[in-house]
Amino acid sequence: MNQAQLNKKVEKTPESKISMDTVYKIIGSFPSKSRRHLIPVLARIQREFRWLPDEVIEVVMAEMRVTRAEIYGVISFYPQFRMTEPGKYVYRLCYGTACFVKGAPIIAQKLKEKYHMSNGETDPSKLFTLEFASCLGNCGAAPMAIIGNDTYGSIDPEKTLKITENYSL
Ligand code: FES
Repeated sequence: MNQAQLNKKVEKTPESKISMDTVYKIIGSFPSKSRRHLIPVLARIQREFRWLPDEVIEVVMAEMRVTRAEIYGVISFYPQFRMTEPGKYVYRLCYGTACFVKGAPIIAQKLKEKYHMSNGETDPSKLFTLEFASCLGNCGAAPMAIIGNDTYGSIDPEKTLKITENYSL
C-alpha cells in the first residue's frame, strides 16, 4: 500500500485525527530506518496520537521493513503501547504496594460500578480509559491517580467519583 492509498484509507474515518504525513515525518526524523529504532519510533507515534492504529502500523512495517509479528512483539511486551483508541482521559490508578494496601482495589471497584471499565478498558462513552500503574512515585500520598495530566493523591472511593465528575467529553 502506498502513501496516497493509506491517506485515503484514514480519511474515511472523519473523527480520526491521524495524519500519515506526521507518521512519515516521525520515522524520517530518526538517523535511519533500522529496526533498532522501532521502539522509539512507536513511542513517538503513540505520544503524538495516543494509540497505534492499524493504518499506522502498516506504514511502520513498510518504511522500516519489519513484520507485523515484530511490531506486535514489541507492543505486547511494553504495556504502555495501545492498539485501541483510548478514552478522552486516561485514568492511571496506582497499583503499587502502598496504593494497593491503602485501597486502590476498592477505588477500581467503584470505577467499575460507575463507568463499567476494568484495567485496560474504556468506558462506553469513551470518556475514560482505566490503566493500573506501578508506583507513581509519591507513596506518601497513597492512593494516587493521574487523570489526563492531573495528579491526585490521598483519594478514596467517594473522592474519586467526585473528581471524575469534573471531566466531560
Ligand atoms: S505505590 Fe502508589 S505512589 Fe507509590
